[in-house]
Amino acid sequence: MATALVTGASAGLGEEFAWQLATAGHDLVVTARSRDRLSELADVVASATGVSVEVLAADLSLPDGREQVASRLADSSRPVSLLVNNAGFATGKGFLASSWEEEAAMHDVLVTAPLRLTHAALPGMIERGHGAVLNVASIAAHLGDSTYAAHKRWLVEFTSALAGQLRGTGVTATAVLPGMTRTEFHSKPTLEHYRAELPEFAWLSAEQVVSAALTGVRRGAVTVTPSVRYQAAGTLARLTPKAVTRRMGSMGSRR
Ligand SMILES: NC(=O)c1ccc[n+]([C@@H]2O[C@H](COP(=O)([O-])OP(=O)(O)OC[C@H]3O[C@@H](n4cnc5c(N)ncnc54)[C@H](OP(=O)(O)O)[C@@H]3O)[C@@H](O)[C@H]2O)c1
Repeated sequence: MATALVTGASAGLGEEFAWQLATAGHDLVVTARSRDRLSELADVVASATGVSVEVLAADLSLPDGREQVASRLADSSRPVSLLVNNAGFATGKGFLASSWEEEAAMHDVLVTAPLRLTHAALPGMIERGHGAVLNVASIAAHLGDSTYAAHKRWLVEFTSALAGQLRGTGVTATAVLPGMTRTEFHSKPTLEHYRAELPEFAWLSAEQVVSAALTGVRRGAVTVTPSVRYQAAGTLARLTPKAVTRRMGSMGSRR
């Protein structure tokens, strides 16, 4: 049975990826920092769906954590055919308001980890002639002006460059750009104001985002933006002068 490795599987979109992939018959490797939450998820998913679920606790902001997951991906005796680079967080602060440690951790989880893990996963996938990498970016790649948005922009560009280089190998690269989605992402004090300020229609469900992302992977799409409203917002943002989107995107990032 094909195996998928999902980072950030202890909560939110990652947990939903685990459920939808297991329901579709994939064995799983679930990774995040919270070993207890992962073990609980593994037990419930395995007993509900009958797939095998392996737990790999690792902190992707640390070199050792990234190497642990990279080694698992490079292990040809237990091939992984889908890598979902999903783990992530935002500081919810402007660049000058956050500490160097916060900025470095965010960069390492959002940029260094997907780069490292993709680099570890691809040689085996290419040798086997099939596989996929799914990178969870954000609509902030088009709308935001924070360092978080810059990292997500990089992830979209990286995926697009990769998709070109993978042509003809049987391996695909897809980036999903979710809009605001109800998960634990906005539960920290610097981000929770979004929950009160944004209207109901601005919010997507994790189920909706994950289902659109996995459909995109099956079709070999390079980018997927779940929901018509965020597709329209993304298109509008690309057509709007940068000065205007910068002002819109700065909402909340300097608190
Ligand atoms: N929710 C949204 O509105 C939204 C919109 C666009 C894009 N996204 C993106 O979607 C992805 C998933 O976010 P979410 O909304 O599902 O957030 P979430 O509910 O807060 O889940 C984040 C996941 O990332 C893991 N994680 C955080 N720091 C980590 C680290 N240092 N090492 C390893 N794992 C780490 C967390 O697990 P542990 O704490 O156990 O490590 C958790 O499993 C992120 O890349 C985010 O940027 C979210």
